Amino acid sequence: MSEPRSAIAHPLRVAENIAHLVPYVPGKPIEEVQRELGIQEVVKLASNENPLGPSPKALEAIAQMAPKLHLYPDISSRTLRLALAKKLDIAPESLVFGNGSDDIIHLLGVTFLEPGDEVIQADPSFVRYEAAAVLNKALCHKVPLTPDWGYDLEALLRAVTSRTRLVFIANPNNPTGTILSRSGIEALLDRLPEQAILVLDEAYYEYATGLPEYPECLDFVRNERNVVLLRTFSKAYGLAGLRIGYGIMRPEIAGWLERTREPFNVNLLAQTAAAAALEDEAFVAQTVAVNEEGKRTLYAAFEHLGLDYTPTYGNFIFVQVGRDGRAVADALLRRGVIVRFSPDFKSQTHLRVSIGTPAQNARFLEALPEALAEIK
Ligand SMILES: Cc1ncc(COP(=O)(O)O)c(C=O)c1O
Repeated sequence: MSEPRSAIAHPLRVAENIAHLVPYVPGKPIEEVQRELGIQEVVKLASNENPLGPSPKALEAIAQMAPKLHLYPDISSRTLRLALAKKLDIAPESLVFGNGSDDIIHLLGVTFLEPGDEVIQADPSFVRYEAAAVLNKALCHKVPLTPDWGYDLEALLRAVTSRTRLVFIANPNNPTGTILSRSGIEALLDRLPEQAILVLDEAYYEYATGLPEYPECLDFVRNERNVVLLRTFSKAYGLAGLRIGYGIMRPEIAGWLERTREPFNVNLLAQTAAAAALEDEAFVAQTVAVNEEGKRTLYAAFEHLGLDYTPTYGNFIFVQVGRDGRAVADALLRRGVIVRFSPDFKSQTHLRVSIGTPAQNARFLEALPEALAEIK
């Protein structure tokens, strides 16, 4: 047998900036936990997925489209684009679709960052913003949240320089579920240099919209500001596995992203399912209602257990477990419940728990006191 290739290969030369990147660590898949721990009934509350599953209308549409899988998808996601533009009351050219909203974050970096440029994000926040900076040799300023995990507007404003090109605000923020107010957004916009773009990542929009303190931001796009809104079909529409998200921005910005994206970055089934899911308003309403109910249940249980939590605008809760968070997450895992601990959370004692169905929440709340008692 010949030598394995890696033993004889010369060391690879990796670009200096890429050498600093670490692979994304996702929530553990259910099948992996079933296999490793031999537990059949596993509940995953680790990736902010929709606990109700996909929109049934999306499933029907996929079944109808399946015989056409030999065809390339529509390069401009036309049917979906027109439907979404109508729903949002914006020009169809204001939309850019991506292989998840992750893809749009990546495209923003590739399109607008040059070496030495600066990106601003809060810390902790969604980890892909920093990757967009590092990939393009830009500097990422990570501005700590306030002690109660809110956005620190003054510190964000202080981080702005003439080299700032992208500011990423997750609204609501992942992992904390907190939001930036409209006046905060306006203050940031006023401070940014002309070339900079404020990216408002609204991955959890559907859970927050309608709440009086949550800012509706489409008018910034309509008024041609340098604002990009990011939304996704991964959460409230239940299509995370298909990978489809989108950005809303003035057509000039969209035009640049259209040049950098891969031509067929949104697959046929994703386009089809998203267009069907968009019409399934009852499903989204049910999703939000289940989330609200779960939120109340989990808040009450945390209070009963004496655990501090951050009130959330999303479909997850950032909870202070008051002891080694990784150990608590592992203890929950042994009981068949997957939640999220990450060093990126900037707290050793916090977990992020996705809000599940009543049955899933009950499983978690059954396991939690046991896990807390095990880890002192
Ligand atoms: C704040 C935020 N932005 C973007 C994403 C990426 O979502 P998508 O599945 O659309 O790529 C996530 C996923 O968890 C998120 O939490």
